[in-house]
This record gives sequence, structure tokens and C-alpha cells, in this order.
Amino acid sequence: MYTLEELRLMVRNCRRCSLAENRTKAVFGEGNPNAKIMFVGEGPGFNEDKMGRPFVGRAGQLLDKMMESIELKRQDIYITNIVKCRPSNNRNPHESESKTCIEYLRWQVKIIDPTIIVCLGAVAAKNIIDKNFKITHRRGIWYDKGKFSIIATYHPAALLRDESKKKGVWEDLKSIKNRYNRLQK
Ligand code: URA
Repeated sequence: MYTLEELRLMVRNCRRCSLAENRTKAVFGEGNPNAKIMFVGEGPGFNEDKMGRPFVGRAGQLLDKMMESIELKRQDIYITNIVKCRPSNNRNPHESESKTCIEYLRWQVKIIDPTIIVCLGAVAAKNIIDKNFKITHRRGIWYDKGKFSIIATYHPAALLRDESKKKGVWEDLKSIKNRYNRLQK
């Protein structure tokens, strides 16, 4: 077993795939190490790569608002991505990059031991729930995998591109809040 800090150091120095060649900073993830709920995005974008922190750009600001709407703050949650280094031009990570990098996410999940995992967007859902996952059909549904309750919703960047997704995301957020509140009792 590693500690989160040991793992962070491994990610900072990671050269397991070619994404390492173009990164400014690897983005390990951050938040409450004892969080009961973990949010997983796709990979760092331009701002995240510069700052070494997840979800700090426009999508991140929207994510903060989404969380605020269900009374969650960054200090309540842990947030990370499928890949820890930025794919150039914000392309989706290749399957081989995700497969290599997801080992770090597995360790993060083991250490933090959340009960709820929220996949933000199709890339996270395909890597965590099912490789054929269709976000438009299967978002908002809870999947129980071992001791984890997992749900996918649209990525906030998708919401920025298409406002019509808002209603679905709001339903998903209410469902997440319900399940999270039941854990607190
Ligand atoms: N999009 C993601 O999927 N992750 C981030 O950290 C930022 C934008």
C-alpha cells in the first residue's frame, strides 16, 4: 500500500506514456483524503496543466457551481482524472494512455476509500463502468460495483457546449445528493 503523498510523487515523475513528454505539470488530484465521494474527470486541460490542479478552468468553475447546488464543497470531495497528464489539443486520451494511467486512480480509490464515485463524462464512465458506456443513455443510473456506488453524468465541458444537457445533470445531481446524504446519517 502507498500513501497518497508517495503516489503523488510517482505521478509527478511518471514517464509511463508519451503524455509525459508535453506536460507542464502532472495533475494528481486533490480534495479531502477521507472523502466519501470522489469525482473523476477525463484529463487535465490547458489551465490544469499549467497549475497542476484539477478542474481549475471554465469547466472547473461550472463544476464548482454544480457542487454548490447540492451543498458540496471542494473540501468535502476528492477530485481527479482518468489520465494525469494533458493530452495535446484537449483530445480524448487514447485507450492505451488511460489503461496505463488508471493504475494510479485504482490506488487513489484504494487509499481514499470513497463510497460514491461520480464519473464526469463518457471517458471516465467508459474506463470505470463499462467500455461500451453510452453517456446519453446511461447517465443518472447507479451501478453497484463491489462496495462502490457509481454514477455518470455529463462532463461540465459538455454542458458548456450544450445547455440542453442541464436538465439531465440537475436530475443526476439531486440523485447524488440523496445518496450522499443517506451516507452521512
Ligand atoms: N476537464 C477534465 O476532465 N479534467 C480537468 O481536470 C479539467 C477539465
